[in-house]
Amino acid sequence: MIINRFADNYFMSGIKDRKRQLFFTTNLLSWNALENRRVMPWKGEKDPYKIWLSEIILQQTRVEQGLAYYNNFIKTYPTVKKLAAAPEKDVFKLWEGLGYYSRCKNLLATAAYIANDCNGKFPSEYELILDLKGIGPYTAAAIGSFAFNLPYAVVDGNVIRVLARFFGISLSSLSPEGKKTFANLAQTLLDKDQPGKYNQAIMDFGATICKPMLPLCSQCVMRSQCVAFKQDAIQEYPLKIKKAAKKQRWFYYVLAEYNGSFLVRKRSGKDIWQNLHEFILTESTADASAEELLAALFGQHFPMQQYQVRDISKGYRQELTHQTIRGCFIHIVSTKQLKLDGYYPEKKSTLKKLAFPKFITQYFVEKNLDFVTN
Ligand code: ADE
Repeated sequence: MIINRFADNYFMSGIKDRKRQLFFTTNLLSWNALENRRVMPWKGEKDPYKIWLSEIILQQTRVEQGLAYYNNFIKTYPTVKKLAAAPEKDVFKLWEGLGYYSRCKNLLATAAYIANDCNGKFPSEYELILDLKGIGPYTAAAIGSFAFNLPYAVVDGNVIRVLARFFGISLSSLSPEGKKTFANLAQTLLDKDQPGKYNQAIMDFGATICKPMLPLCSQCVMRSQCVAFKQDAIQEYPLKIKKAAKKQRWFYYVLAEYNGSFLVRKRSGKDIWQNLHEFILTESTADASAEELLAALFGQHFPMQQYQVRDISKGYRQELTHQTIRGCFIHIVSTKQLKLDGYYPEKKSTLKKLAFPKFITQYFVEKNLDFVTN
C-alpha cells in the first residue's frame, strides 16, 4: 500500500505546477533574508579560490569539522599560487585527519593547473570549472554561482531531501529518472537573478530547518505547501537507499625501530589513504596474533633474537564509508638494520612532519607520541 501512496504523491503533488514552484523559491528567499542566522566564514565570499577550497573541504566533511581546516589553509596558503608552490608533503600534512585524501591530491593538481596554465586566474565559465580535477556538477554550480553569479543550481543530499519532502517525490536519487527529476526541478526553482544567494539559502535551509532527523517543521515557512508535512510522512522522504554491507579489513602495523629511525612508506595505488604514510603493514581478512604476524613477516631472515617486542597495542578501529578497519600496532626495537622492500627509514624527529591516516594518528595520540620524541 505504501508504494501506491507514494506513487500517487509523486504524480499528484504537482511538481510541475508553476505556482507551487514560485511559492517554494519566494518563501525560501524570504526565509533566508529574515530568519537564516547561519554564519560561516566563506559566506558572501567572492574569491573563487577561497570558495573552491571551502567547497572541496565540505564535499565529504561536516561544516563544524571543516571550519578549522579551512581557516588553516587560507592562513597558510592565501592564494592559489601559494598553494601550487607548496611542497606536496606539507599540504597533505595540513589535510591530515580530514579523510578522503584523493580530494587533497586533486586540490594540488588543480592548483598547479590554475597557477601554471591559467596564469593564476580561476576559470569563470561553468564548463571550464567542471573540467577541473576534483570538481563535479555540485561543486561547479556552487563555485560558479557564488563567485561569478552563474545560473546553475546545486544538487546534493540536502537539496534532494528538501525537494523530495516539499514536492512529495519518492524516486531514488540514484535512478536515472530520479537524477533527472531532481536536477531539472532544482534548476527550475533556482532564482536566476541571484543564483548564489538562492544556492546558499537552500543549503542552509536543508542544514538548519529541513534536517535529516528531527526537522524543525514548526518553524518552517514552507509547511503549508509541503507534501510530506501535510501527510505526516516526513521520515519517508527522501526514499531510503539500502547500503551495501561494509568490507571488513584487519591492518597490523609493525613499528620497526632501529638506531632512532622507523621503517615507513608512502601509500600508493588505488586503495584507501593514497599518499599518506604508514609503517610495515600486514593485512588480513580476519583477526591474527602478533606472534604469528611477526613470524610470517620476518621469518628466518630476521629471527626473534635480533629484535625485542617493546609494545603490542590494544585493538584499534576506524569506520570509513564503505569499510571498517581494525588492527593493532606492534613496536619492535631491533639490534640490526632491517631492510624491507618498499620501506625506508625515517628519523623519529621527522616522523611528525609526515601525514598519516587517522587509524595511525589515533595510536600516536594514545601513546602521547612518546616513542617518537625520545
Ligand atoms: N556544504 C557545501 N557547501 C556549503 C556551503 N557553501 N554552505 C554550507 N554548507 C555547505
